Amino acid sequence: MRRPFIAANWKMNKTVSGTREFISSFIPEVKDVTDVDIVIAPPFTSLVVAAEELKNSNVIIAAQDVFYEEKGAYTGEVSPLMLADIGCRYAIIGHSERRQYFDETDEIVNRKIKAAKRGGVGAILCIGESLEEREAGKTFDVLEREIDKGLFETDTGDIVIAYEPIWAIGTGKTATPEQAQEAHAYIRERIGVKYGNKGDEVRIIYGGSVTPENIDSLMVCKDVDGALVGGASLKAESFVRIVKFNRF
Ligand code: PGA
Repeated sequence: MRRPFIAANWKMNKTVSGTREFISSFIPEVKDVTDVDIVIAPPFTSLVVAAEELKNSNVIIAAQDVFYEEKGAYTGEVSPLMLADIGCRYAIIGHSERRQYFDETDEIVNRKIKAAKRGGVGAILCIGESLEEREAGKTFDVLEREIDKGLFETDTGDIVIAYEPIWAIGTGKTATPEQAQEAHAYIRERIGVKYGNKGDEVRIIYGGSVTPENIDSLMVCKDVDGALVGGASLKAESFVRIVKFNRF
């Protein structure tokens, strides 16, 4: 049985006080949810506060990115060592916004994943095709490339894979459960080809306009093990509903 993994990606949103406010209304509502990994990825400036506030809770802290060196002259970067030090268990790596706006290549993604794992931080590896690629029938090729290169010379230990079709991110245009299931099944099969029975164990979560309204239908898909939620994770009430999928 794969344990559901529901993660909030706040992107460049929320100050420290906004983070505290969210946490104080969120925690009482989810404290009894014991069968889901609940994850929050605030911006770097809120990480320490979030880690402190969530210390004795059932909520896991993640970063939205990480650099691939441990320390040194890399102005502006944050290392896996620093994340592990404050109790950060995961880093989102290879989000399409980082690939698009910050020129992150599969090679950089791969270095970040290896460094995170070495430093004791798990990786939420984001992959997914653009609309153009989908329409050209290249979805599976893109997924295969991003998996193979992203995990080059490493394995699926401490990895959660987020399938995020770029055309669904922030657009309100969610993949249908059928489209999500098809892509997730393909990803699982590819992991199986490369890593044997790990294909059955690795958690594959869906991201792209997940909302309280569509989470239930996505979570019934056999190969959808959770969600990476942007816009709908910014309000505690809405993220609570998503964390408590299929309970209403
Ligand atoms: P969205 O973002 O839920 O706002 O579409 C998801 C993501 O980019 O992780």
